[in-house]
Amino acid sequence: MPTHQSLSGATDDELLQRMVQTHPERFGPPFWEFFASEVAPGLPPEPVVIDLGCGPGLLLRDFGARLARATLHGYDVTPAMIGYGRQLAFAGKPPVFAIHDVTRDPLPHAAGSVDLVSMSSVLHVVDQPLPVLAEIRRVLAPAGLFLLNDWIRQPLSAYLAWRREVLKESAADGDRRGFSLFPVHNKYTGEDWHWLLAEAGFTVELGRRPAEAAVDLGVGV
Ligand SMILES: C[S@@+](CC[C@H](N)C(=O)[O-])C[C@H]1O[C@@H](n2cnc3c(N)ncnc32)[C@H](O)[C@@H]1O
Repeated sequence: MPTHQSLSGATDDELLQRMVQTHPERFGPPFWEFFASEVAPGLPPEPVVIDLGCGPGLLLRDFGARLARATLHGYDVTPAMIGYGRQLAFAGKPPVFAIHDVTRDPLPHAAGSVDLVSMSSVLHVVDQPLPVLAEIRRVLAPAGLFLLNDWIRQPLSAYLAWRREVLKESAADGDRRGFSLFPVHNKYTGEDWHWLLAEAGFTVELGRRPAEAAVDLGVGV
């Protein structure tokens, strides 16, 4: 099973630092405008929220700041990520963090008990996404929401230019990392994602991307 670390040649700590450093850019105003208009209004007053592949836990921290009465859960297969999340400060009740492999174990939640499942920059590395999506669907309440935030296929020239211009990678680093990661980050088109979600039984309501978020989905790996 490939991991983000093995695909990018990064250590756990390097991936962690990259996720922390790129967090403000990946989850900037366009993401939160989208969240406020399309996601938050669909949640109950005391939502149960899960972030799968939560990385350093910063998105859960930001959810907690906006959803004061939420119960938050963060799952990640990399212990360093869970360790980082556990020492963050949270506005409300801190999340329950646990080491968990979404490709191997069922989620420790009853069927129909979760209001929002978020998954950001994770599903593209999973070899078999349909069983993972089926498990997400199992735990979601009937009106529950799945917020998927992931890479969408783009031309090689645009991808390499983005690495140079936005990530500020040197030509050598850009070529080394860019060519090895291009197949990983450019796996699914928007139509492929919609098809996968529909195939797993989801109704795609939130199919549009946040305004001006052209390539900010999934910085790093
Ligand atoms: C690119 S990082 C994204 C982290 C976080 N979602 C974010 O956007 O900042 C991918 C994360 O997915 C986690 N991950 C990869 N495969 C996983 C799996 N099978 N089960 C749980 N977590 C996984 C990695 O450990 C890593 O923290």
